[in-house]
Amino acid sequence: MRKLSFKLGLLFFVFVLGIETVLFASLYVTLVNARINEEFEQLLARGNNHRDVLEKSYHLSTLEHVVMMESEAETDVVITDANGNILYFSDRILPFAKKLIPHADVRHISHSGMVVQNNWKKQPYIATASPIRMEGKTKGYVYMFQRTASIQNMISKLKHHFLVVGVVSVFLTIMTIFFLSRVITIPLIRMKQATEKLSKGDFSVRLQVKGEDELAQLGKAIQTLAADLEYLKKERNEFLASISHELRTPLTYVKGYADIARRPNIAEEERANYLSIIYEEAERMQKLVKDLFELAKMDRHSFQIEKEPTPLCLFLKKIYEKMAPAFQAKQMVLIYRCEENVTVYIDRQRFEQVMTNLLDNALKYSHECSTVSMHVKREKKNVIIMISDEGIGIPEADLPHIFERFHRVDKSRSRIGGGTGLGLAIVKEIVEAHGGSISATSQFGKGTTMLITLPRG
Ligand SMILES: Nc1ncnc2c1ncn2[C@@H]1O[C@H](COP(=O)(O)OP(=O)(O)OP(=O)(O)O)[C@@H](O)[C@H]1O
Ligand SMILES: [Mg+2]
Repeated sequence: MRKLSFKLGLLFFVFVLGIETVLFASLYVTLVNARINEEFEQLLARGNNHRDVLEKSYHLSTLEHVVMMESEAETDVVITDANGNILYFSDRILPFAKKLIPHADVRHISHSGMVVQNNWKKQPYIATASPIRMEGKTKGYVYMFQRTASIQNMISKLKHHFLVVGVVSVFLTIMTIFFLSRVITIPLIRMKQATEKLSKGDFSVRLQVKGEDELAQLGKAIQTLAADLEYLKKERNEFLASISHELRTPLTYVKGYADIARRPNIAEEERANYLSIIYEEAERMQKLVKDLFELAKMDRHSFQIEKEPTPLCLFLKKIYEKMAPAFQAKQMVLIYRCEENVTVYIDRQRFEQVMTNLLDNALKYSHECSTVSMHVKREKKNVIIMISDEGIGIPEADLPHIFERFHRVDKSRSRIGGGTGLGLAIVKEIVEAHGGSISATSQFGKGTTMLITLPRG
C-alpha cells in the first residue's frame, strides 16, 4: 500500500511540477520582456523630449542645458550633427558612443526615434536615437544611453525572487501531494487490512466510513460482507451442530436396539419389536436427509420454481381429497372452503408440498375429533390461504421461531410424531420464492392458524 501512495504521489508530483514549470517560465519571460520594453520606451521618450526642446530652440545654451541634465541623471546623452559627428556629450559616455555611432544605421529613422542598441545582456549600454528635424531637414541626432548594469541587476533580482517562489511552491506541492495521497490511500490501507482479516477468518471488522463517495461505498460494502460472512459462519456452525445432534439421537436408538436384537436368547416377538423401532428410526433419518437436501437446494439459489397459472380452488380441492382420509383416520374433520376460483401463478409440485406440510402439522398437533379448516380468501392484490386447527397450539415464546430449521416446541413430543422440525422451514422458503409470505398465529392449548399470502397473478 505504501507503494500505491508513492506511485500516486509521484504521478501527481510529475504532473503538477510540469504545469508549474511551464507557468513559471512563461510568467518569467513575459515579466522580463515587459520590464525591458519599459526601459527602452522610457529611454526613447527621454531622448524624444530632449529632441523636442532642441527643435524648439537649437541654441548653444539649450544644448548645454540638455547635456548638463543628463550628467546628473542615470542616463547619458550624445548629440551629433546630421553626419554623425559628435557635438556634445555628457561625461563617461564618449568611448562607447564613439564605437556605436558610426555603425548606427539612422538613415530611415522616423521622427519618433528608434532603439539602436538593444543587446542588454552583453553590452554595457543600451541606446536609442531621436532625429532632430528643422524645416524638413535632419539637423542632427539625440542619442540616449543607459547602463545595462542596472537592468541586469533588476533581472537578477527578479530571477532570485522567482527561484525563491519556485522552491517554496515545489515544497508546498510536495507537502500537499504527500497529505493528499495519504488521505486517499489511508482508507484503502484500512480496507486492505480489513479484507486480510476477513480472509483469515476474523470477521470483527469495523471500518469507519464517512461520506457517500466511492471509497465510502466500498468501505460499507466490505462492512456488509464481513457482517454477512459472520452471520453465515455462525449459522453454518449452528446448522451443523443441529444436524449432528439430530442424527446422533436416532443413531443411538438404532445402535442400542440393534445390539439387543442380535442377542441370541431373546424372544422372537421382542426382536420384531426392536427391529420395527430400528426401521422407524431409519425412516426418520431418511426423511431428515431428504429434507436437508431439499433445503440445501433452495439455499444455493439454484432452486428454480416453475410457475404456471393455476386455478387455486381446484388445485386445493385435489389436495383436500388426498389428505381427507388421514384426518378421518384420527376421527377429525377437514373442512374446505374456497369462495371464488382465483388463478395464481405457482409451482404446483412445490406448492403441494407446502400444503401437505401445513396440513400434516395441523393433523399431527391436534387432538382426536377436532376440526381443521382450509379457507381461501381473495383480497385486492393478494390471495390468502388460511389453515386453522383446534389443536395443542404453540406457546408464545416459540411462535417467532417455528419457521427456523430444527425448531420444535417439544422435542420429545415431536419425536413421537416423527418430525424433524424442517417442515416449516421448507414451507417458508417455497412461499417466499413465490413472492409470498407466511405467518402463524396461535393460542396455546386452543389452536393454530397458518396464513399464506400470495400475490395474485
Ligand atoms: N399446527 C400446529 N400446531 C401446534 N404446533 C405446531 C403446528 N405447526 C407447527 N407446530 C410446531 O412447530 C414446530 C415446527 O414445525 P415443522 O413442521 O417445521 O416441524 P415438525 O412438524 O416437527 O417436523 P417435520 O414437519 O419436518 O416432520 C413443530 O415441531 C411444532 O412444535
Ligand atoms: Mg411439520
